[in-house]
Amino acid sequence: MSMNGARYNQGQIILHWLIAAMIFFMLGLGLWMVGLPRESELPPGQESVRAFWFLLHKSIGITIAAFIILRVVWRLSYTAPPLPESIPGWQQRLSGRVHFLLYALMIAMPITGYLQSMYSKYDTKLWGVPLPRLAEADAVARETFTDIHQALAFLFIATLVLHVGAAIKHRLKGTEVTSRMSLWK
Ligand code: HEM
Ligand code: HEM
Repeated sequence: MSMNGARYNQGQIILHWLIAAMIFFMLGLGLWMVGLPRESELPPGQESVRAFWFLLHKSIGITIAAFIILRVVWRLSYTAPPLPESIPGWQQRLSGRVHFLLYALMIAMPITGYLQSMYSKYDTKLWGVPLPRLAEADAVARETFTDIHQALAFLFIATLVLHVGAAIKHRLKGTEVTSRMSLWK
């Protein structure tokens, strides 16, 4: 097996795992929080915790966006370390496409989340600080972006099944591809 020992640089590796952990948390939080009862669905006098978790989801989402921008700008400034020649061409092309899709989804999730929040009647807050309102509330636009945000979330999960499945396959086959992105060698 031909190995060239090339690895992603340490900064990219730290950002990969930091963002991955945050995105897994956000996918779980998002799917869970939309099932929480609204104030109107609870017995009178009982407060809903829905708003708390929605605000947390928005604050973390906007925070991840900053890390994602940093990662994308950094990634555009260099080329990925070459894969070992033992990896067949079609797998190299497929992995390139899946990585591109993952980057596109990392960018699209915070944007559609923000847009849906912007068109809702509630203020968008970042860690408690209300952000300027850039548009009037618009129920149709809010619903549209909510649907897109949800559809992209499911596409994200499907893409991650492929991505993580490939990583596990490489680990089991001992191709050492996974050590290109591991925090320690
Ligand atoms: C939300 C979670 C994740 C996202 C968004 C994500 C995204 C990405 C992206 C975009 C790349 C390409 C890096 C580049 O060329 O700049 C990559 C590479 C990689 N990821 Fe992930 N990843 C996630 C989770 C994981 C997990 C859980 C594993 C392992 C089980 C993993 C293992 C890898 C490996 C080994 C590479 C390097 C592939 C190569 O050498 O070509 N990732 N990831
Ligand atoms: C990487 C970032 C993000 C991920 C992975 C993510 C993921 C999710 C998921 C999985 C859902 C549940 C979808 C459903 O079943 O309806 C959701 C809902 C939601 N997200 Fe995000 N999100 C992200 C960023 C954001 C941002 C930045 C905002 C706003 C500033 C936001 C606002 C919302 C809101 C308000 C909902 C609830 C929609 C509803 O009322 O049904 N998200 N998100």
